[in-house]
Amino acid sequence: MAALVTGVTSMPRGSGERSGLPIRVIGVSRAFRGGGGVVQAIDRVTLEVPAGEFLALVGRSGSGKTTLLNLIAGLDRPDTGQVFVGEDEISSFSEAQLTALRRHTLGFVFQSFGLLPLLSAAENVELALRIAGMGLRERAERTRELLEVVGLTRRANHRPYELSGGEQQRVAVARALANHPRVIIADEPTGELDSATGAQIFALLRNVANEGVTIVTATHDPFVMQQVDRVEELSDGRLLAASERVLAPPPPPRPLQPPRRPTPLR
Ligand SMILES: Nc1ncnc2c1ncn2[C@@H]1O[C@H](COP(=O)(O)OP(=O)(O)OP(=O)(O)O)[C@@H](O)[C@H]1O
Ligand SMILES: [Mg+2]
Repeated sequence: MAALVTGVTSMPRGSGERSGLPIRVIGVSRAFRGGGGVVQAIDRVTLEVPAGEFLALVGRSGSGKTTLLNLIAGLDRPDTGQVFVGEDEISSFSEAQLTALRRHTLGFVFQSFGLLPLLSAAENVELALRIAGMGLRERAERTRELLEVVGLTRRANHRPYELSGGEQQRVAVARALANHPRVIIADEPTGELDSATGAQIFALLRNVANEGVTIVTATHDPFVMQQVDRVEELSDGRLLAASERVLAPPPPPRPLQPPRRPTPLR
C-alpha cells in the first residue's frame, strides 16, 4: 500500500519531518453549566500519549471521551490544566493558532462521518486541501492518491448518500489524512458501522499509526480495544487507574516462567 500520510515516496521513513507528535494532558478539568446544574465532564485528567502511539479511550456513555478528545483537538478549552501537542501548549493558543493547528497538524474522523452532502467523495477530500492552501494541480493529484489509498477510486464522483456507511467513513479517513496530519483524533470512527466494515476502517487507521502518526480514538468497540497500542478508561470524567478499570481491564500479568533447568552435560 502507498504511504498513507507521507504520500511522498521520496521522503525516507522515520526522517521525523512528518512523524507523529506526542500529546500531554496535564491536570485538565472541564465543566459544563446549564440545565440542572454543573457537569464535571473532565476531572483533573493527566495523560501522556507518546508520538506514534495508537491510544483508545473507553468508558460508558457520558464518561467524558468526546470532551477529552475535543480538548486535545483544540476544539474546546480546559477550565484548568494544560494540553500540549508536541512542544506547543495549545490550551493557551489564540483562535487563529488553533485554526492553523486543525488545518495543518491534526486530522479528524467522527462517528457520523461529517461529510458535506452536496459534494462528491473527491470534492469532500479536496476541500480540506483547498482550505489548507494547496494549489489546483497538487490538490487533484493528492485527492486521487488518497481515494486510492482508501479503495474508493471508483466512487470518486459519488455523493455521500450514494455511498455505503463504510465508504463514507473511508472518505472521512481520506479527508483526515489529506494534509499529512501528525495527530489523528477519531471519535468512535467505527461506531455506526457493522463489525466487518468497522474492522476495515480500523485497519486503515492502524496502517496510519504504523507510519508513525499519533492516534487518539474513543470507542465502544471491543475489537478496537484489543488491537490498539494502549487503552485508557474514563469514568465520570476521571481517568481510571489500571486496577479500577471495568470495561478494559489491563491484561493479566504474565506468569513468571519457571527457571530453566540447565541441561546436564553428558
Ligand atoms: N456542551 C455541553 N453542555 C453541557 N453538558 C455537556 C456538553 N458536552 C458534554 N456534556 C456533558 O458532559 C458529559 C461528558 O460528555 P461526553 O460527550 O464527553 O461523553 P462521552 O464519553 O463522549 O459519551 P458517549 O459515549 O455517549 O459519546 C456528559 O454528562 C454530557 O452530558
Ligand atoms: Mg462521545
